[in-house]
Amino acid sequence: MPPLMPTSLPFTSPWLLAPMEGVTETCFRDVILSRLSPGELGGAYTEFVRVSSLPIPEWKLAEHLGKKRFGQPVGLQLMGSQEGPLAASADAAIYAGAPLVDLNFGCPAKGVFKDCAGSALLDHPERIEKFVRACVTAAAGRVPVTAKMRCGVRDDTRLEENAQAMEAGGAVMITVHCRTREEGYRDCADWGRVARAVAAVKVPVCGNGSIETHADLERMRRETGCAYAMVGRAALGNPWIFSGYEATAADAARFLLDYAQALLTRKGYHHHGASGRIKQLLFFWTAGGLFEGADEKARKAEKARRLSEKSPESLFAWLEERARSGSAHPAERAAVPSLA
Ligand SMILES: Cc1cc2nc3c(=O)[nH]c(=O)nc-3n(C[C@H](O)[C@H](O)[C@H](O)COP(=O)(O)O)c2cc1C
Repeated sequence: MPPLMPTSLPFTSPWLLAPMEGVTETCFRDVILSRLSPGELGGAYTEFVRVSSLPIPEWKLAEHLGKKRFGQPVGLQLMGSQEGPLAASADAAIYAGAPLVDLNFGCPAKGVFKDCAGSALLDHPERIEKFVRACVTAAAGRVPVTAKMRCGVRDDTRLEENAQAMEAGGAVMITVHCRTREEGYRDCADWGRVARAVAAVKVPVCGNGSIETHADLERMRRETGCAYAMVGRAALGNPWIFSGYEATAADAARFLLDYAQALLTRKGYHHHGASGRIKQLLFFWTAGGLFEGADEKARKAEKARRLSEKSPESLFAWLEERARSGSAHPAERAAVPSLA
């Protein structure tokens, strides 16, 4: 008998924030979720939680989910190479409050690959099906289980087979990152692969890979027939990509200061750690004309200068000055935090 599973996904709009290890932790997610309405951003996922030979305890999964709750669901993503601990962790994730559980079949990292987890499983669709079924059975209809995949290890020939294995195991949505492991993050995103997955399964597919603008979100759905679209790196440079709002430099600086402040209130975070995280975002940053300069070359030079800034105080002082520099969205008009 197939395991009992809830059929409806809890997302509040078709646009989703991708899980990104080292970036989409609770502070970043809280800052972005607090700015976007449920109609604009439909949901998010935690970074992957690696499951080895022992299940992850509930308290640890609760930490990954964070304390704050928003209108949109935040799914908990698990990645592992052993069915038993993975299923027990899915159960613990639900006790920890996860409104959905996602399984990672895409991580390309060498260590993960060697342990036959993440993208390594794309050579073993029968194991994928078993892992998904074990987690769906553990979830026992309490929350939906979704799965996220790359299109293959070296090539995309097993794309349909893998998507069908996830569906057969009971996944109620399949996110397709349209690159293979070998393609890494190269600029070769082939949305035709998302369309192939849509044709191969009955469950909703979420298209992912190189969505750069707000208009691309709808284009992904139109060109591939997928039900949902997920944004990764472009959301790190423009958190408003989901709504299409044209942020100002003041909005952008306030977002980054809020993020820094959230990190600083977290145990163990100091000015250097927080400014490192801000610089990680500045590397991707595109919103609001944050970097000043008469032309593209000057703006690039300004970005390089801020990225090489050694003093957290100087970085924060620059952001505070930019935050006060012009008009801000009504939601951004709270007092500028003083961190410098
Ligand atoms: C820094 C970083 C960390 C990532 N961590 C995860 C992760 O924890 N789980 C996952 O499924 N995908 C992870 N990914 C992949 C993204 O979710 C997404 O599939 C990929 O970036 C392609 O989307 P994009 O072209 O919109 O960035 C990560 C990507 C990046 C850049």
